[in-house]
Amino acid sequence: MKVITVHSFKGGTGKTNIIASISFALASAGYKVGVVDSDMAHPSLHIIYGMGNQPPHPTLTEFLLGKCESTEIVHDVSPEYGFKNKLYLIPSNLNEEIITKIVREGFEIGHMFRGLKEIGRKKNLDVLLIDTKPGLDEKTMLFFMMTDALFIVMRNDEADIRGTMELLKIIAHFKVPIKYIIPNMIESSHIENVNNELKKLFKKDDVIIASSLPYSSKLAMEHSPHIDKLFISKYPDDPFSKSILKLRDMTTQKMGI
Ligand SMILES: Nc1ncnc2c1ncn2[C@@H]1O[C@H](COP(=O)(O)OP(=O)(O)O)[C@@H](O)[C@H]1O
Ligand SMILES: [Mg+2]
Repeated sequence: MKVITVHSFKGGTGKTNIIASISFALASAGYKVGVVDSDMAHPSLHIIYGMGNQPPHPTLTEFLLGKCESTEIVHDVSPEYGFKNKLYLIPSNLNEEIITKIVREGFEIGHMFRGLKEIGRKKNLDVLLIDTKPGLDEKTMLFFMMTDALFIVMRNDEADIRGTMELLKIIAHFKVPIKYIIPNMIESSHIENVNNELKKLFKKDDVIIASSLPYSSKLAMEHSPHIDKLFISKYPDDPFSKSILKLRDMTTQKMGI
């Protein structure tokens, strides 16, 4: 099983939408995919899969508290998307009591890694995608230890570029084999310029600048509680969806899967 983690310096860069779209794109290409919501402060993956504001239970949060087995937190969303045993969601649950307990007492990261690996084995996953909490949180960074490819999502603004540069210095310690910077929400007509500029800016860093993802006014309009399905499954011809397919192909080729 290959692990792809998506991270960013700032919040709101598009991480969750990108990872969910890639999960669908991978499942469409025949891969067996698990998607983990590890952003326990702002769990949102279940919302953009069209499951409403409450995640299906139990979740990763309950697993970390030792309240259930790893296999119980895997929710098969394949049928909703016309797949069979291809797409699994591992959601998180925002529950104040639980979050306080986790923040106060912490949790054992090894327990999380073992659980995710067990899920990968039992469901025979090809790829596990991990959506993270943004920023420089230490626990989150530990995911990089089990990551084969890291997507660092960034908007093309000064603060995010500077922050991403700082982030990369820390990430360098984790020896992640493949690192992509994914500029998101870029005006279509600016994509080429932005890519060239960023290649220059990050040329000293050991990182690949992926082609920017376009700003999509349709995606920007998607809001809970009206989200009934993944955007990419509803609007496969939207420029954002098409760019996601390219990103999928680039990634699978680079990873040799
Ligand atoms: N390429 C894009 N074009 C337009 N809106 C986008 C794009 N990518 C993400 N968004 C919007 O930006 C907001 C934040 O996205 P989200 O995936 O939740 O970011 P994060 O997980 O990094 O916090 C959402 O409202 C989403 O619909
Ligand atoms: Mg998110």
